[in-house]
Amino acid sequence: MRILCVVGARPNFMKMAPVVAALAEAGSRPLLVHTGQHYDQAMSQVFFDQLGMPTPDIHLEVGSDTHARQTARIMTAFEPVLLEQRPDWVVVAGDVNSTVGTGLVAAKLEIPVAHVEAGLRSFDRAMPEEINRVLTDHLSDLLFTTEESGNRNLRHEGIAEERIAFVGNCMVDTLRTHVEAAVAQEPWKELELSPGGYALMTLHRPSNVDDPEVLRSLMDTAARIAEELPVVFPLHPRTRQRLDDLGLDLPTGLRLEPPLPYLSFLGLMARARCVLTDSGGIQEETTALSVPCLTLRWNTERPSTVDAGTNRLVGTEKNKILGAFDDILAGRWQQGEIPPLWDGQAGERIARRLLNEG
Ligand code: UD1
Repeated sequence: MRILCVVGARPNFMKMAPVVAALAEAGSRPLLVHTGQHYDQAMSQVFFDQLGMPTPDIHLEVGSDTHARQTARIMTAFEPVLLEQRPDWVVVAGDVNSTVGTGLVAAKLEIPVAHVEAGLRSFDRAMPEEINRVLTDHLSDLLFTTEESGNRNLRHEGIAEERIAFVGNCMVDTLRTHVEAAVAQEPWKELELSPGGYALMTLHRPSNVDDPEVLRSLMDTAARIAEELPVVFPLHPRTRQRLDDLGLDLPTGLRLEPPLPYLSFLGLMARARCVLTDSGGIQEETTALSVPCLTLRWNTERPSTVDAGTNRLVGTEKNKILGAFDDILAGRWQQGEIPPLWDGQAGERIARRLLNEG
């Protein structure tokens, strides 16, 4: 059986690594295609190196552009690959433009599509990822879900039960594989910090960083937090650009960093006093690590991190964020539980199912 796995943007790498590894372990080394949606060394290659991912067999080198142009370029570049390779399965992950672009090309060529991390819904169509999720799920033949809400959403949207496979969370597989080594590196030492003695923050959602008023207010809030606890803030290229545009005078307690390699970020996250983020994946990773997470959004497509885990939605309002931060410092925070099947075996379940479908 020929399986083709697609990656494109940073969060795809941690989700696909366990699938690629489990397929190879079962004797079916997949063909790996990188769209090149993310291309900087710090956003791409370093993850391949640290996660032990094989070098992509095919690189489409699409780069950045508007949504329409980027997705169109992904599709135009991917079609000849599929026509030549004719795999039995195309496996896509997550909710980025590379996911929907390559999935659509495969579906039109009647090549079965499997979606890793299916069924998540924020019910907010202003998020480009929500559109990508819905479309990818509806063109996929096999939908691998990470949490119970995903199963419910898919059933509700009329997806046949036999196409839904609840397998758990591949991102958590990767986390479990690497967390010990990540902590052993003691990445906080380089920043002259100690375990539990800092907060970790990430921001990259257009709704938070592209609106100058929202970004200014979030930076003001982070500056307040940094008066009590240093805030380590690795910057996504988009956020770096927007902050440069604003030209804010930021306090020294706010430690701006370049995008960090996987192991450094994971080690920092595992020993952070708390995490502030608008990322989807980090909500899951903090739940898996039982680290308090303040999600700087009004909704989440990952409700199990709030219902069972250590995540709270605090939106972008200064007082709400500061109130929740006080709760963390005062120890008023849920312990959290690990959601079902976030056990490090998701990649193997996916590989087994794909190989059995042949
Ligand atoms: C993309 C995904 C988002 C995911 C995020 C993780 C979509 C719609 N969005 O958002 O779901 O959470 O990745 O990072 O697919 N850039 C660089 N170097 C790179 C890549 C990007 O400098 O290697 C800059 C470019 O200026 C680009 C901007 O970042 O225009 C945004 O990149 P893009 O891939 O369009 O979206 P992300 O915001 O990264």
